[in-house]
Amino acid sequence: MADSLRPLISARRIRKRVAELARQIEEDHRGAPLTLVIVLKGATIFAADLMRQIGIPFVIDFVRASSYGKAARSSGAVMLRDEALLDIAGHHVIVVEDIVDTGLTMAALLAALRQLGPTSLDVCTLLHKHVAAARPVEIRYKGFDIPDKFVVGYGMDYAERYRSLPGVYRLIPKSGGG
Ligand code: IMP
Repeated sequence: MADSLRPLISARRIRKRVAELARQIEEDHRGAPLTLVIVLKGATIFAADLMRQIGIPFVIDFVRASSYGKAARSSGAVMLRDEALLDIAGHHVIVVEDIVDTGLTMAALLAALRQLGPTSLDVCTLLHKHVAAARPVEIRYKGFDIPDKFVVGYGMDYAERYRSLPGVYRLIPKSGGG
């Protein structure tokens, strides 16, 4: 039996929302040195679309954070890589993420980035999952709220599969669950 995919957010809705988020970011950061810190790997497609809609100057950098490995549930342990190499002191920083789920990854990332002396630090996430045991994270720029279900597509994967789907889908793995 193959994994089953159910459409959740269409490519068209994503395109429209990404343009709106870009406008909001532009309005809030005119004239300020802006850095987008993109969280690898899941946020790459979202970030690529978002960047091309932002009409003010900015620089980009990348961090890597993972809490899932090959599982479809968060392990709770967050690994960060490369964040100490970022040059963000004095910059207005927006962390660009695909999905905030338990909030553990984002909380760890924000704590690490705060040590590097940014002027401001905000979160832009395409999706916000509502989970009971969530760590509260303040999200300034949010694409969509979604239920607590595992999703793939538009950069998000399940064991490295499905990233290239143009929309967001709910995944029900062939082993059941989801
Ligand atoms: P958190 O630490 O639980 O908030 O997990 C955030 C990270 O887990 C995100 O950056 C994603 O990479 C991954 N993640 C969380 N939920 C999903 C999902 O439904 N599909 C794919 N990846 C997810």
